[in-house]
Amino acid sequence: MISSTRHLARLVKNTRKYSTGFWSQVQKGPEDPILGVSLAFNKDQSPHKINLGVGAYRDENGKPYVLDCVKKADKKVFEANVDHEYAPIVGVAQFNQLAAQLALGEDSQHIKEKRITTVQAISGTGALRIAAAFLGRFYQGKTAYVPNPTWGNHNVIFADCGVPVKSYGYYDPKTCGLNFDAMSNDIKSAPEGSIILLHACAHNPTGVDPSMEQWKKISDICKERKHFVLFDFAYQGFASGNPEKDAAAIRLFVEQGHNIALCQSFAKNFGLYGERIGAFSLLTATPEEAINVESQLKILIRPMYSNPPVYGARLVSAILKDKELTNQWRTEVKGMADRIIDMREQLVKYLKKHGSTRDWSHITNQIGMFCFTGLTPEQVDRLASEFHIYLTRNGRISIAGINSTNVEYLAKAMHAVTKNN
Ligand SMILES: Cc1ncc(COP(=O)(O)O)c(C=O)c1O
Repeated sequence: MISSTRHLARLVKNTRKYSTGFWSQVQKGPEDPILGVSLAFNKDQSPHKINLGVGAYRDENGKPYVLDCVKKADKKVFEANVDHEYAPIVGVAQFNQLAAQLALGEDSQHIKEKRITTVQAISGTGALRIAAAFLGRFYQGKTAYVPNPTWGNHNVIFADCGVPVKSYGYYDPKTCGLNFDAMSNDIKSAPEGSIILLHACAHNPTGVDPSMEQWKKISDICKERKHFVLFDFAYQGFASGNPEKDAAAIRLFVEQGHNIALCQSFAKNFGLYGERIGAFSLLTATPEEAINVESQLKILIRPMYSNPPVYGARLVSAILKDKELTNQWRTEVKGMADRIIDMREQLVKYLKKHGSTRDWSHITNQIGMFCFTGLTPEQVDRLASEFHIYLTRNGRISIAGINSTNVEYLAKAMHAVTKNN
């Protein structure tokens, strides 16, 4: 009692001492909701606890996974005895070329005709930041439309770059699927020439993607309305297990004549989260336009971070320039995608086995790392308090956190919290 009174007195004294500081007007901001999930998970002592919040791949044992092709590339980079000089402002040239090829295909006319500029970026987030800053500077007065819901960072990145953001309908909570009518109507009624952000595959947070037929309709609408299309491509290969299939929407839009902007991340598909490796590309009408755009991108990047880190670019290049390592990457990214697809199937199987009569088909219809389960915030709270299972309150689960050891326990818990609703 005495010591806690003393502790309190010391706190008050310290607060008084510091409250006249220059930043005393700065209020404490809210924590990131996903961080909150991990904090609660870390505090929980139960051996059954499961973290379904974190958006990073985990293997069958719940551990981070380093791809074998990355280990081999690592060795190659080490043995090449490279220096640690600055990269150019636009990053490692070979990486930029290989990144664009991976997304657009080796036979891309834009690449052949040099009607593209690609710059290395600080992973997908950095690529989006370059995109938003460029649009804010050279496409002024336009609003960016993002799906509702979308990856939370989209709204903030555009807002921070002075680009107004609105949303278009996307997810239908009744079907846990795509509300295509809302999506197409909203994109149609956006002012001509708006910026339309599309998740190329494995939509985060819903796992719901349009079909190819729907993509074609969206492409037609965007063309008719002269919208500018920006693709966020954070999961190539990670969604279906096939990098070409996952790039199909992007390639369709390009084929249809859209000179798109493209933000790539190599965090998930190469397991290079912390290396912060990504790319930003802008497809242009002429090679001259590409040269001019690149010169402005350099002017924009220089005061942001001067030039990007080289290590991730070296690793990805070492893989993508080597046929054998590329094939190995394809096998390994398919392995990750297949494990996720398998966990979706097993979760549905165990929900049925334990007597759930709800329609859970959206779990297997959705794709990628995330699944919008349709669980209510109250059900999410019960999963945490009664079953030690942690996820964000919007009902999103990261399938990567599920494995054959915990899937049945999770299914039983999901059934328990949903059976009387
Ligand atoms: C839709 C989407 N875009 C971009 C990113 C960017 O991630 P990073 O900056 O780690 O590459 C993510 C990561 O979760 C994402 O889900």
